[in-house]
Amino acid sequence: MRILLLCHGFNSLTQRLHAELAAKGHQLSVEFDIADAVAEEAVALFCPDLVIAPFLKRAIPESIWSRQVCLVVHPGIVGDRGPSALDWAIQQGLATWGVTVLQAEAEMDAGPVWASASFPLRAAKKSSIYRNEVTEAAVRAVLQAVDRFAGGDFQPERVPGQAHALMRQSDRAIDWAQSDSASALARLNAADGFPGVADSLFGEPCHLFDAWPETNLKGTPGSLLGRRETAILRATADGAVWIGHVRRNGGVKLPATLAFPEAAALPELPLADCWKAASPTWQDIAYEEAGGVGFLSFDFYNGAMSTGQCRRLTEAFRWATQRPTRVIVLRGGSDFWSNGIHLNTIEAAESPADESWANINAIDDLAEAVLRCETQLTVAAVGANAGAGGCFLARAADFVWVRDGVVLNPHYKNMGNLYGSEFWTYLLPPRVGEDGARAIMRHRLPMPAAEAVRLGFYDACLPAPGFAVDAARRAAELAAANDFPECLAAKRVKRAADEAQKPLADYRTAELQEMRRNFYGFDPSYHVARYHFVARSPHSWTPRHLARHRDLDWKIPA
Ligand code: COA
Repeated sequence: MRILLLCHGFNSLTQRLHAELAAKGHQLSVEFDIADAVAEEAVALFCPDLVIAPFLKRAIPESIWSRQVCLVVHPGIVGDRGPSALDWAIQQGLATWGVTVLQAEAEMDAGPVWASASFPLRAAKKSSIYRNEVTEAAVRAVLQAVDRFAGGDFQPERVPGQAHALMRQSDRAIDWAQSDSASALARLNAADGFPGVADSLFGEPCHLFDAWPETNLKGTPGSLLGRRETAILRATADGAVWIGHVRRNGGVKLPATLAFPEAAALPELPLADCWKAASPTWQDIAYEEAGGVGFLSFDFYNGAMSTGQCRRLTEAFRWATQRPTRVIVLRGGSDFWSNGIHLNTIEAAESPADESWANINAIDDLAEAVLRCETQLTVAAVGANAGAGGCFLARAADFVWVRDGVVLNPHYKNMGNLYGSEFWTYLLPPRVGEDGARAIMRHRLPMPAAEAVRLGFYDACLPAPGFAVDAARRAAELAAANDFPECLAAKRVKRAADEAQKPLADYRTAELQEMRRNFYGFDPSYHVARYHFVARSPHSWTPRHLARHRDLDWKIPA
Protein backbone atom coordinates (compact mmCIF):
# COMPACT_ATOMS: atom_id res chain seq x y z
CA MET A 1 0.00 0.00 0.00
CA ARG A 2 0.93 3.63 -0.27
CA ILE A 3 0.93 5.03 3.25
CA LEU A 4 1.28 8.69 4.12
CA LEU A 5 2.62 9.43 7.62
CA LEU A 6 1.15 12.73 8.73
CA CYS A 7 3.00 13.93 11.82
CA HIS A 8 4.08 16.91 13.87
CA GLY A 9 7.72 15.84 13.45
CA PHE A 10 9.77 12.81 12.45
CA ASN A 11 10.11 11.67 16.07
CA SER A 12 11.37 8.31 17.29
CA LEU A 13 7.94 6.63 17.11
CA THR A 14 7.34 7.90 13.57
CA GLN A 15 10.83 6.77 12.56
CA ARG A 16 10.23 3.30 13.99
CA LEU A 17 6.86 2.96 12.22
CA HIS A 18 8.43 4.20 8.99
CA ALA A 19 11.08 1.48 9.27
CA GLU A 20 8.60 -1.28 10.22
CA LEU A 21 6.12 -0.42 7.46
CA ALA A 22 8.88 -0.07 4.85
CA ALA A 23 10.20 -3.51 5.88
CA LYS A 24 6.72 -4.90 5.11
CA GLY A 25 7.03 -3.55 1.57
CA HIS A 26 4.72 -0.54 1.86
CA GLN A 27 5.54 2.62 -0.04
CA LEU A 28 5.88 5.48 2.42
CA SER A 29 5.99 9.21 2.39
CA VAL A 30 5.95 11.73 5.23
CA GLU A 31 4.34 15.15 5.55
CA PHE A 32 4.72 17.36 8.59
CA ASP A 33 1.49 18.83 9.93
CA ILE A 34 2.23 22.44 9.08
CA ALA A 35 -1.14 23.66 7.78
CA ASP A 36 -4.35 22.06 6.51
CA ALA A 37 -3.59 23.13 2.95
CA VAL A 38 -0.14 21.47 3.07
CA ALA A 39 -1.59 18.18 4.34
CA GLU A 40 -4.33 18.33 1.66
CA GLU A 41 -1.68 18.91 -1.00
CA ALA A 42 0.33 15.91 0.26
CA VAL A 43 -2.73 13.66 0.01
CA ALA A 44 -3.48 14.95 -3.48
CA LEU A 45 0.12 14.35 -4.63
CA PHE A 46 0.69 10.96 -3.00
CA CYS A 47 -2.83 9.47 -3.37
CA PRO A 48 -2.28 7.24 -0.33
CA ASP A 49 -4.32 4.12 0.37
CA LEU A 50 -4.04 4.98 4.03
CA VAL A 51 -3.00 7.96 6.17
CA ILE A 52 -1.41 7.21 9.53
CA ALA A 53 -0.88 9.89 12.18
CA PRO A 54 1.62 8.53 14.74
CA PHE A 55 2.38 11.85 16.44
CA LEU A 56 0.07 14.82 15.89
CA LYS A 57 -0.63 17.88 17.99
CA ARG A 58 -3.72 19.02 16.03
CA ALA A 59 -6.76 17.33 14.56
CA ILE A 60 -6.60 16.01 10.99
CA PRO A 61 -8.66 18.30 8.72
CA GLU A 62 -12.15 17.06 7.84
CA SER A 63 -11.33 17.57 4.17
CA ILE A 64 -8.95 14.60 4.54
CA TRP A 65 -10.59 12.21 7.04
CA SER A 66 -14.02 12.50 5.40
CA ARG A 67 -12.59 11.07 2.13
CA GLN A 68 -9.88 8.76 3.27
CA VAL A 69 -9.28 6.37 6.15
CA CYS A 70 -6.90 8.08 8.58
CA LEU A 71 -5.58 6.09 11.54
CA VAL A 72 -4.49 8.02 14.61
CA VAL A 73 -2.12 6.57 17.22
CA HIS A 74 -3.44 7.56 20.66
CA PRO A 75 -1.12 6.89 23.64
CA GLY A 76 -3.97 5.66 25.81
CA ILE A 77 -6.06 2.57 26.44
CA VAL A 78 -9.26 1.83 24.53
CA GLY A 79 -11.90 4.37 25.54
CA ASP A 80 -9.37 6.93 26.79
CA ARG A 81 -9.79 10.30 25.07
CA GLY A 82 -8.16 13.67 25.17
CA PRO A 83 -4.74 15.22 25.70
CA SER A 84 -2.11 14.40 28.38
CA ALA A 85 -3.14 10.72 28.27
CA LEU A 86 0.23 9.36 29.34
CA ASP A 87 0.80 12.18 31.83
CA TRP A 88 -2.37 11.31 33.78
CA ALA A 89 -1.62 7.57 33.75
CA ILE A 90 1.92 8.09 35.12
CA GLN A 91 0.96 10.72 37.70
CA GLN A 92 -1.86 8.48 39.00
CA GLY A 93 0.54 5.54 39.22
CA LEU A 94 -1.65 3.20 37.12
CA ALA A 95 -0.40 -0.38 36.83
CA THR A 96 -1.09 -0.87 33.11
CA TRP A 97 -1.55 1.41 30.14
CA GLY A 98 -1.80 1.10 26.38
CA VAL A 99 -1.99 2.46 22.86
CA THR A 100 -5.10 2.63 20.68
CA VAL A 101 -5.22 3.03 16.91
CA LEU A 102 -8.47 4.70 15.95
CA GLN A 103 -10.02 6.23 12.90
CA ALA A 104 -10.00 10.03 12.73
CA GLU A 105 -13.40 11.70 12.99
CA ALA A 106 -14.78 15.04 14.10
CA GLU A 107 -14.52 14.30 17.83
CA MET A 108 -10.91 13.81 19.03
CA ASP A 109 -9.99 10.16 19.81
CA ALA A 110 -13.65 9.07 19.54
CA GLY A 111 -13.54 7.24 16.20
CA PRO A 112 -13.89 3.50 15.67
CA VAL A 113 -11.04 1.39 17.07
CA TRP A 114 -8.88 -0.54 14.60
CA ALA A 115 -6.42 -2.07 17.06
CA SER A 116 -4.92 -1.64 20.52
CA ALA A 117 -2.08 -2.97 22.65
CA SER A 118 -1.34 -2.71 26.36
CA PHE A 119 1.73 -2.84 28.62
CA PRO A 120 2.64 -2.78 32.33
CA LEU A 121 3.33 0.85 33.29
CA ARG A 122 6.77 1.34 34.90
CA ALA A 123 7.39 4.10 37.41
CA ALA A 124 9.61 6.01 34.96
CA LYS A 125 9.93 9.24 33.01
CA LYS A 126 7.19 9.90 30.45
CA SER A 127 9.86 10.34 27.77
CA SER A 128 11.23 6.89 28.62
CA ILE A 129 7.80 5.21 28.62
CA TYR A 130 7.07 6.87 25.27
CA ARG A 131 10.34 5.73 23.67
CA ASN A 132 10.04 2.19 25.01
CA GLU A 133 6.62 0.77 26.00
CA VAL A 134 4.45 3.16 23.96
CA THR A 135 6.62 2.70 20.86
CA GLU A 136 6.58 -1.11 21.10
CA ALA A 137 2.80 -1.17 21.71
CA ALA A 138 2.20 1.32 18.88
CA VAL A 139 4.19 -0.84 16.45
CA ARG A 140 2.12 -3.90 17.38
CA ALA A 141 -1.19 -2.05 17.14
CA VAL A 142 -0.39 -0.15 13.91
CA LEU A 143 0.83 -3.28 12.12
CA GLN A 144 -2.34 -5.07 13.16
CA ALA A 145 -4.53 -2.15 12.06
CA VAL A 146 -2.75 -1.97 8.68
CA ASP A 147 -3.24 -5.72 8.16
CA ARG A 148 -6.92 -5.38 9.04
CA PHE A 149 -7.32 -2.45 6.66
CA ALA A 150 -5.56 -4.34 3.88
CA GLY A 151 -7.77 -7.39 4.52
CA GLY A 152 -10.79 -5.25 3.65
CA ASP A 153 -13.35 -7.06 5.80
CA PHE A 154 -12.57 -5.74 9.29
CA GLN A 155 -15.29 -3.60 10.85
CA PRO A 156 -13.76 -1.25 13.45
CA GLU A 157 -16.04 -0.70 16.41
CA ARG A 158 -16.96 2.40 18.31
CA VAL A 159 -16.42 2.19 22.06
CA PRO A 160 -17.82 4.43 24.79
CA GLY A 161 -15.13 6.79 26.00
CA GLN A 162 -13.99 8.92 28.88
CA ALA A 163 -12.42 12.26 27.99
CA HIS A 164 -9.94 13.90 30.34
CA ALA A 165 -8.68 17.43 30.38
CA LEU A 166 -5.31 18.80 29.38
CA MET A 167 -3.04 18.47 32.42
CA ARG A 168 -2.22 21.97 33.65
CA GLN A 169 0.73 23.18 35.68
CA SER A 170 -1.61 23.49 38.68
CA ASP A 171 -2.19 19.70 38.40
CA ARG A 172 1.55 19.11 38.27
CA ALA A 173 2.68 21.44 41.08
CA ILE A 174 4.83 19.94 43.87
CA ASP A 175 4.50 21.16 47.44
CA TRP A 176 8.02 20.18 48.49
CA ALA A 177 7.37 20.72 52.18
CA GLN A 178 4.40 18.32 52.21
CA SER A 179 5.03 15.92 49.33
CA ASP A 180 6.74 12.57 49.82
CA SER A 181 9.48 11.53 47.39
CA ALA A 182 7.27 9.00 45.57
CA SER A 183 4.61 11.53 44.62
CA ALA A 184 7.19 14.22 43.74
CA LEU A 185 8.90 11.67 41.46
CA ALA A 186 5.55 10.67 39.89
CA ARG A 187 4.80 14.31 39.08
CA LEU A 188 8.26 14.98 37.67
CA ASN A 189 8.13 11.73 35.66
CA ALA A 190 4.67 12.56 34.28
CA ALA A 191 5.98 15.89 32.97
CA ASP A 192 9.34 14.69 31.68
CA GLY A 193 10.44 15.55 28.20
CA PHE A 194 7.71 18.15 27.90
CA PRO A 195 6.46 20.38 29.58
CA GLY A 196 8.37 19.80 32.84
CA VAL A 197 7.08 20.88 36.27
CA ALA A 198 6.87 24.65 36.77
CA ASP A 199 8.72 25.48 39.99
CA SER A 200 11.47 27.77 41.20
CA LEU A 201 15.08 27.35 42.27
CA PHE A 202 17.25 30.00 43.93
CA GLY A 203 14.20 32.27 43.78
CA GLU A 204 13.98 32.07 39.98
CA PRO A 205 11.08 30.50 38.06
CA CYS A 206 12.02 27.43 36.02
CA HIS A 207 10.77 24.04 34.79
CA LEU A 208 12.15 20.85 36.30
CA PHE A 209 13.05 17.64 34.38
CA ASP A 210 15.03 14.44 34.73
CA ALA A 211 14.22 13.33 38.28
CA TRP A 212 16.22 10.58 40.02
CA PRO A 213 15.39 8.89 43.32
CA GLU A 214 17.65 9.15 46.36
CA THR A 215 17.76 6.40 48.98
CA ASN A 216 19.87 7.74 51.84
CA LEU A 217 20.05 11.53 52.03
CA LYS A 218 17.44 13.68 53.80
CA GLY A 219 17.04 17.25 55.04
CA THR A 220 14.61 20.06 55.76
CA PRO A 221 11.68 19.50 53.35
CA GLY A 222 11.89 21.83 50.34
CA SER A 223 15.50 22.85 50.91
CA LEU A 224 18.35 22.23 48.47
CA LEU A 225 20.69 19.73 50.09
CA GLY A 226 23.60 19.71 47.67
CA ARG A 227 24.83 18.90 44.18
CA ARG A 228 26.59 16.06 42.43
CA GLU A 229 28.34 16.83 39.15
CA THR A 230 25.46 18.52 37.26
CA ALA A 231 22.44 17.53 39.40
CA ILE A 232 20.83 19.18 42.43
CA LEU A 233 19.30 17.34 45.41
CA ARG A 234 16.07 18.70 46.91
CA ALA A 235 14.54 17.46 50.15
CA THR A 236 10.94 16.19 50.29
CA ALA A 237 8.81 15.43 53.34
CA ASP A 238 10.29 11.93 53.68
CA GLY A 239 13.59 11.98 51.79
CA ALA A 240 14.95 13.72 48.72
CA VAL A 241 14.84 13.77 44.92
CA TRP A 242 17.59 14.64 42.42
CA ILE A 243 16.82 17.15 39.67
CA GLY A 244 19.04 16.53 36.66
CA HIS A 245 17.81 19.13 34.18
CA VAL A 246 16.17 22.53 34.36
CA ARG A 247 14.84 25.08 31.89
CA ARG A 248 14.89 28.66 33.10
CA ASN A 249 12.21 30.91 31.66
CA GLY A 250 13.21 31.91 28.15
CA GLY A 251 16.19 29.54 28.19
CA VAL A 252 16.98 26.06 26.92
CA LYS A 253 16.85 22.81 28.88
CA LEU A 254 20.22 22.42 30.62
CA PRO A 255 21.95 20.34 33.27
CA ALA A 256 20.74 21.85 36.56
CA THR A 257 24.06 23.22 37.83
CA LEU A 258 24.76 24.81 34.46
CA ALA A 259 21.35 26.49 34.38
CA PHE A 260 21.96 27.75 37.95
CA PRO A 261 25.61 28.63 38.56
CA GLU A 262 24.47 29.56 42.09
CA ALA A 263 24.44 25.79 42.74
CA ALA A 264 28.24 25.94 43.05
CA ALA A 265 27.70 27.17 46.62
CA LEU A 266 25.83 23.96 47.55
CA PRO A 267 27.82 21.18 49.20
CA GLU A 268 29.16 18.53 46.78
CA LEU A 269 27.70 15.11 47.59
CA PRO A 270 30.05 12.64 45.91
CA LEU A 271 29.29 8.97 45.47
CA ALA A 272 30.92 6.78 48.07
CA ASP A 273 32.69 4.59 45.55
CA CYS A 274 33.27 6.76 42.47
CA TRP A 275 32.28 4.77 39.34
CA LYS A 276 30.94 1.69 41.12
CA ALA A 277 27.17 1.29 40.73
CA ALA A 278 25.40 2.40 43.92
CA SER A 279 21.88 1.98 45.31
CA PRO A 280 19.29 4.28 43.66
CA THR A 281 20.71 7.79 43.54
CA TRP A 282 21.90 10.21 40.87
CA GLN A 283 24.66 8.42 39.00
CA ASP A 284 25.10 9.04 35.28
CA ILE A 285 28.20 6.84 34.90
CA ALA A 286 28.15 3.47 36.65
CA TYR A 287 30.50 0.47 36.56
CA GLU A 288 29.83 -3.15 37.48
CA GLU A 289 31.88 -6.31 37.06
CA ALA A 290 30.95 -9.98 36.68
CA GLY A 291 32.72 -13.02 35.26
CA GLY A 292 35.72 -11.19 33.80
CA VAL A 293 33.51 -8.53 32.18
CA GLY A 294 33.31 -4.86 33.13
CA PHE A 295 30.01 -3.13 32.33
CA LEU A 296 30.14 0.64 31.87
CA SER A 297 26.74 2.39 31.73
CA PHE A 298 26.36 6.06 30.85
CA ASP A 299 22.82 7.27 31.33
CA PHE A 300 23.12 10.79 29.95
CA TYR A 301 19.81 12.63 29.60
CA ASN A 302 18.55 12.45 26.01
CA GLY A 303 21.78 10.67 25.04
CA ALA A 304 23.50 14.06 24.72
CA MET A 305 27.18 14.04 25.72
CA SER A 306 28.67 17.36 26.79
CA THR A 307 32.38 18.13 26.92
CA GLY A 308 32.44 17.45 30.66
CA GLN A 309 30.49 14.19 30.34
CA CYS A 310 32.77 12.94 27.53
CA ARG A 311 35.84 13.73 29.66
CA ARG A 312 34.40 11.95 32.70
CA LEU A 313 33.39 8.96 30.63
CA THR A 314 36.85 8.78 29.07
CA GLU A 315 38.32 8.82 32.57
CA ALA A 316 35.91 6.06 33.65
CA PHE A 317 36.73 4.00 30.56
CA ARG A 318 40.50 4.37 31.14
CA TRP A 319 39.96 3.33 34.76
CA ALA A 320 37.93 0.30 33.59
CA THR A 321 40.78 -0.75 31.29
CA GLN A 322 43.04 -1.00 34.39
CA ARG A 323 40.71 -3.56 35.97
CA PRO A 324 41.55 -7.28 35.81
CA THR A 325 38.86 -7.99 33.19
CA ARG A 326 38.98 -9.38 29.66
CA VAL A 327 35.97 -7.62 28.14
CA ILE A 328 34.44 -4.17 28.62
CA VAL A 329 30.80 -3.68 27.67
CA LEU A 330 29.71 -0.13 26.90
CA ARG A 331 26.05 -0.12 27.80
CA GLY A 332 24.98 3.47 27.15
CA GLY A 333 21.80 4.64 28.84
CA SER A 334 18.30 3.27 29.24
CA ASP A 335 16.62 5.56 26.70
CA PHE A 336 19.45 6.38 24.30
CA TRP A 337 22.83 4.81 23.75
CA SER A 338 24.23 8.15 22.62
CA ASN A 339 23.15 11.05 20.41
CA GLY A 340 26.60 12.60 20.09
CA ILE A 341 27.70 16.04 21.22
CA HIS A 342 25.43 18.04 23.54
CA LEU A 343 23.67 20.61 21.39
CA ASN A 344 21.96 22.33 24.35
CA THR A 345 25.12 23.02 26.35
CA ILE A 346 26.70 24.22 23.10
CA GLU A 347 23.76 26.55 22.44
CA ALA A 348 24.02 27.99 25.97
CA ALA A 349 27.78 28.56 25.81
CA GLU A 350 29.27 32.03 25.50
CA SER A 351 30.85 30.91 22.23
CA PRO A 352 28.86 28.03 20.68
CA ALA A 353 31.61 27.60 18.07
CA ASP A 354 34.31 27.17 20.73
CA GLU A 355 32.09 24.84 22.76
CA SER A 356 31.29 22.77 19.66
CA TRP A 357 35.02 22.45 19.06
CA ALA A 358 35.73 21.43 22.66
CA ASN A 359 32.83 18.94 22.64
CA ILE A 360 33.78 17.24 19.37
CA ASN A 361 37.37 16.92 20.56
CA ALA A 362 36.21 15.45 23.86
CA ILE A 363 34.00 12.84 22.17
CA ASP A 364 36.81 12.05 19.72
CA ASP A 365 39.15 11.50 22.68
CA LEU A 366 36.65 9.00 24.05
CA ALA A 367 36.27 7.21 20.70
CA GLU A 368 40.06 7.14 20.38
CA ALA A 369 40.47 5.66 23.87
CA VAL A 370 38.07 2.86 22.89
CA LEU A 371 39.78 2.31 19.53
CA ARG A 372 43.24 2.19 21.12
CA CYS A 373 42.27 -0.12 24.00
CA GLU A 374 44.73 -3.04 23.89
CA THR A 375 44.00 -4.68 27.22
CA GLN A 376 40.41 -5.84 26.73
CA LEU A 377 38.01 -6.71 23.95
CA THR A 378 35.34 -4.04 23.82
CA VAL A 379 31.63 -4.43 23.09
CA ALA A 380 29.01 -1.74 22.51
CA ALA A 381 25.69 -3.17 23.68
CA VAL A 382 23.30 -0.81 21.94
CA GLY A 383 20.05 -1.42 23.78
CA ALA A 384 18.51 1.96 22.96
CA ASN A 385 18.37 4.37 20.02
CA ALA A 386 21.47 6.19 18.88
CA GLY A 387 22.00 9.13 16.57
CA ALA A 388 24.76 10.94 14.71
CA GLY A 389 28.14 10.65 16.47
CA GLY A 390 26.66 8.20 18.98
CA CYS A 391 26.30 5.56 16.24
CA PHE A 392 30.00 5.84 15.35
CA LEU A 393 31.13 6.01 18.95
CA ALA A 394 29.50 2.57 19.35
CA ARG A 395 31.33 1.35 16.23
CA ALA A 396 34.66 2.23 17.86
CA ALA A 397 34.18 -0.94 19.96
CA ASP A 398 35.40 -4.29 18.62
CA PHE A 399 31.86 -5.70 18.59
CA VAL A 400 28.54 -3.91 18.31
CA TRP A 401 25.44 -5.81 19.38
CA VAL A 402 22.18 -3.98 18.92
CA ARG A 403 18.71 -4.66 20.29
CA ASP A 404 16.06 -5.49 17.71
CA GLY A 405 13.73 -2.49 17.42
CA VAL A 406 16.45 0.09 18.05
CA VAL A 407 16.44 2.92 15.50
CA LEU A 408 19.79 4.38 14.45
CA ASN A 409 20.49 7.62 12.64
CA PRO A 410 24.13 7.17 11.56
CA HIS A 411 24.50 10.46 9.70
CA TYR A 412 25.09 14.11 10.51
CA LYS A 413 23.71 16.16 7.64
CA ASN A 414 20.34 16.80 9.31
CA MET A 415 22.20 19.12 11.68
CA GLY A 416 22.93 21.88 9.17
CA ASN A 417 25.13 19.75 6.91
CA LEU A 418 27.54 18.88 9.69
CA TYR A 419 30.43 16.80 8.33
CA GLY A 420 30.80 14.68 11.47
CA SER A 421 33.78 13.17 13.25
CA GLU A 422 34.12 10.32 15.82
CA PHE A 423 36.36 8.57 13.25
CA TRP A 424 33.41 7.75 10.97
CA THR A 425 35.66 8.02 7.92
CA TYR A 426 37.79 5.22 9.42
CA LEU A 427 34.94 3.12 10.81
CA LEU A 428 32.17 3.20 8.21
CA PRO A 429 33.64 2.58 4.71
CA PRO A 430 35.43 -0.72 5.49
CA ARG A 431 32.13 -2.13 6.72
CA VAL A 432 29.64 -0.84 4.17
CA GLY A 433 31.92 0.16 1.27
CA GLU A 434 32.64 3.67 -0.02
CA ASP A 435 29.35 3.79 -1.94
CA GLY A 436 27.42 2.41 1.04
CA ALA A 437 28.94 5.05 3.33
CA ARG A 438 28.04 7.82 0.89
CA ALA A 439 24.48 6.50 0.60
CA ILE A 440 23.97 6.35 4.39
CA MET A 441 25.29 9.88 4.82
CA ARG A 442 23.29 11.26 1.91
CA HIS A 443 19.93 9.55 2.49
CA ARG A 444 19.77 10.77 6.09
CA LEU A 445 17.11 8.20 6.93
CA PRO A 446 16.72 6.20 10.13
CA MET A 447 18.24 2.73 9.98
CA PRO A 448 16.59 -0.12 11.87
CA ALA A 449 18.87 -2.36 13.94
CA ALA A 450 18.45 -5.36 11.65
CA GLU A 451 19.42 -3.31 8.60
CA ALA A 452 22.57 -2.03 10.33
CA VAL A 453 23.61 -5.67 10.75
CA ARG A 454 22.54 -6.67 7.24
CA LEU A 455 24.73 -3.87 5.84
CA GLY A 456 27.66 -5.01 7.99
CA PHE A 457 27.78 -1.76 9.98
CA TYR A 458 26.98 -3.51 13.28
CA ASP A 459 27.72 -7.13 14.16
CA ALA A 460 24.62 -8.72 15.68
CA CYS A 461 20.96 -7.90 16.22
CA LEU A 462 19.68 -9.58 19.40
CA PRO A 463 16.03 -10.13 20.32
CA ALA A 464 14.48 -7.29 22.28
CA PRO A 465 13.24 -9.24 25.31
CA GLY A 466 16.20 -10.05 27.52
CA PHE A 467 18.68 -8.01 25.46
CA ALA A 468 20.77 -6.94 28.46
CA VAL A 469 20.99 -10.49 29.82
CA ASP A 470 21.77 -11.91 26.40
CA ALA A 471 24.50 -9.32 25.77
CA ALA A 472 26.01 -10.00 29.22
CA ARG A 473 26.02 -13.75 28.53
CA ARG A 474 27.71 -13.29 25.16
CA ALA A 475 30.30 -10.97 26.74
CA ALA A 476 31.01 -13.57 29.45
CA GLU A 477 31.47 -16.18 26.70
CA LEU A 478 33.97 -13.91 24.93
CA ALA A 479 35.87 -13.48 28.20
CA ALA A 480 35.88 -17.23 28.92
CA ALA A 481 36.76 -18.34 25.39
CA ASN A 482 39.86 -20.51 25.10
CA ASP A 483 41.10 -18.42 22.21
CA PHE A 484 40.71 -15.12 24.07
CA PRO A 485 44.50 -14.41 24.07
CA GLU A 486 44.63 -14.99 20.30
CA CYS A 487 41.61 -12.72 19.74
CA LEU A 488 43.21 -9.93 21.75
CA ALA A 489 46.51 -10.43 19.93
CA ALA A 490 44.74 -10.36 16.55
CA LYS A 491 43.03 -7.12 17.53
CA ARG A 492 46.41 -5.52 18.35
CA VAL A 493 47.88 -6.70 15.05
CA LYS A 494 44.91 -5.33 13.09
CA ARG A 495 45.12 -1.94 14.85
CA ALA A 496 48.89 -1.76 14.21
CA ALA A 497 48.37 -2.63 10.53
CA ASP A 498 45.64 -0.01 10.17
CA GLU A 499 47.85 2.54 11.93
CA ALA A 500 50.74 1.79 9.57
CA GLN A 501 48.47 2.25 6.59
CA LYS A 502 46.96 5.52 7.81
CA PRO A 503 47.33 6.79 11.38
CA LEU A 504 44.17 7.47 13.38
CA ALA A 505 45.47 11.00 13.86
CA ASP A 506 45.17 11.59 10.10
CA TYR A 507 41.52 10.55 10.03
CA ARG A 508 40.85 12.75 13.00
CA THR A 509 42.67 15.77 11.58
CA ALA A 510 40.86 15.51 8.26
CA GLU A 511 37.42 15.17 9.89
CA LEU A 512 38.10 18.03 12.29
CA GLN A 513 39.26 20.27 9.49
CA GLU A 514 35.77 19.91 7.97
CA MET A 515 34.15 20.38 11.37
CA ARG A 516 36.16 23.55 11.93
CA ARG A 517 34.61 24.90 8.75
CA ASN A 518 31.13 23.92 10.03
CA PHE A 519 31.77 25.67 13.35
CA TYR A 520 33.79 28.74 12.32
CA GLY A 521 33.24 29.04 8.54
CA PHE A 522 31.13 31.54 6.64
CA ASP A 523 28.20 29.10 6.22
CA PRO A 524 26.06 29.35 9.39
CA SER A 525 23.85 26.32 8.55
CA TYR A 526 24.99 24.27 11.55
CA HIS A 527 24.40 27.13 14.02
CA VAL A 528 20.97 27.85 12.54
CA ALA A 529 19.95 24.16 12.54
CA ARG A 530 21.21 23.71 16.11
CA TYR A 531 19.27 26.77 17.31
CA HIS A 532 16.02 25.44 15.80
CA PHE A 533 16.67 21.93 17.12
CA VAL A 534 17.32 23.13 20.66
CA ALA A 535 14.46 25.66 20.60
CA ARG A 536 12.17 22.91 19.25
CA SER A 537 11.02 25.39 16.56
CA PRO A 538 7.98 24.14 14.65
CA HIS A 539 8.76 22.87 11.16
CA SER A 540 7.88 25.09 8.25
CA TRP A 541 8.46 22.45 5.55
CA THR A 542 9.04 18.73 5.24
CA PRO A 543 12.53 17.72 4.10
CA ARG A 544 12.56 16.23 0.61
CA HIS A 545 14.21 13.00 1.75
CA LEU A 546 11.05 12.28 3.78
CA ALA A 547 8.34 13.82 1.56
CA ARG A 548 8.81 11.47 -1.40
CA HIS A 549 5.63 12.84 -3.01
CA ARG A 550 7.48 16.14 -3.40
CA ASP A 551 10.33 14.57 -5.39
CA LEU A 552 10.73 16.38 -8.68
CA ASP A 553 10.21 13.12 -10.59
CA TRP A 554 7.24 11.95 -8.48
CA LYS A 555 4.22 11.04 -10.60
CA ILE A 556 0.67 10.43 -9.43
CA PRO A 557 0.37 6.65 -9.54
CA ALA A 558 -1.86 5.39 -12.35
N1 COA B 1 22.10 17.24 22.16
C1 COA B 1 21.15 17.74 22.98
N2 COA B 1 19.90 17.28 23.05
C2 COA B 1 19.61 16.26 22.23
C3 COA B 1 20.53 15.68 21.35
C4 COA B 1 21.84 16.21 21.33
N3 COA B 1 22.78 15.70 20.56
N4 COA B 1 19.93 14.69 20.68
C5 COA B 1 18.67 14.63 21.12
N5 COA B 1 18.47 15.60 22.06
C6 COA B 1 17.24 15.88 22.81
C7 COA B 1 16.19 16.61 22.00
O1 COA B 1 16.39 17.99 22.03
C8 COA B 1 14.94 16.20 22.73
O2 COA B 1 14.84 16.99 23.87
P1 COA B 1 13.49 17.18 24.72
O3 COA B 1 13.81 16.57 26.04
O4 COA B 1 13.32 18.65 24.82
O5 COA B 1 12.39 16.48 24.01
C9 COA B 1 15.25 14.79 23.17
O6 COA B 1 16.66 14.65 23.12
C10 COA B 1 14.70 13.75 22.28
O7 COA B 1 15.07 14.09 20.96
P2 COA B 1 14.08 13.87 19.77
O8 COA B 1 14.69 14.51 18.56
O9 COA B 1 12.70 14.23 20.16
O10 COA B 1 14.23 12.29 19.75
P3 COA B 1 14.02 11.33 18.61
O11 COA B 1 14.23 10.00 19.20
O12 COA B 1 12.75 11.64 17.94
O13 COA B 1 15.21 11.65 17.55
C11 COA B 1 17.54 11.90 16.89
C12 COA B 1 16.50 11.18 17.78
C13 COA B 1 18.93 11.39 17.29
C14 COA B 1 17.29 11.63 15.42
C15 COA B 1 17.44 13.42 17.09
O14 COA B 1 17.32 13.70 18.46
C16 COA B 1 18.65 14.16 16.57
O15 COA B 1 18.75 14.41 15.38
N6 COA B 1 19.57 14.57 17.51
C17 COA B 1 20.72 15.34 17.17
C18 COA B 1 21.87 14.45 16.81
C19 COA B 1 23.06 15.32 16.38
O16 COA B 1 23.01 15.97 15.37
N7 COA B 1 24.10 15.32 17.22
C20 COA B 1 25.19 16.19 16.98
C21 COA B 1 26.21 15.66 16.03
S1 COA B 1 27.23 14.42 16.78
